[in-house]
Amino acid sequence: MSHILVTGGAGFIGANFVLAWLRDKTADGVVNVDKLTYAGNRKTLASLDDDSRHVFFADGYL
Ligand SMILES: NC(=O)c1ccc[n+]([C@@H]2O[C@H](COP(=O)([O-])OP(=O)(O)OC[C@H]3O[C@@H](n4cnc5c(N)ncnc54)[C@H](O)[C@@H]3O)[C@@H](O)[C@H]2O)c1
Repeated sequence: MSHILVTGGAGFIGANFVLAWLRDKTADGVVNVDKLTYAGNRKTLASLDDDSRHVFFADGYL
C-alpha cells in the first residue's frame, strides 16, 4: 500500500486532515509524524487506533 507522509498530524489542522483523508476507504495510508508538543493531542486520532492505514510516530522515536 502507498502512504502519504503527514507531519504535525496530531495538531488541529493535521489531525482533521488525517481523519478526513482516511474517511475515503480507497485512499492511500498515512504515515503521521508528530513531535507531540503542547499543541499535539494523540487522543484526537483515537478513532484510527484499529485502522492499519494509519501509522503514527511520535517524533523522537524515529
Ligand atoms: N479548536 C480550535 O478552533 C483550534 C484549536 C487549535 C488550534 N487552532 C488554530 O489552528 C491553527 C494552527 O493549527 P495547526 O494544526 O497548524 O497547529 P497546531 O499547533 O494545532 O499543531 C501543530 C502540530 O505540529 C506538531 N509539531 C510541532 N513541531 C513539530 C516537529 N518539528 N515535527 C513534528 N511535529 C511537530 C505539534 O506537536 C502539533 O501537533 C491556528 O490558527 C490556531 O489558532 C484552532
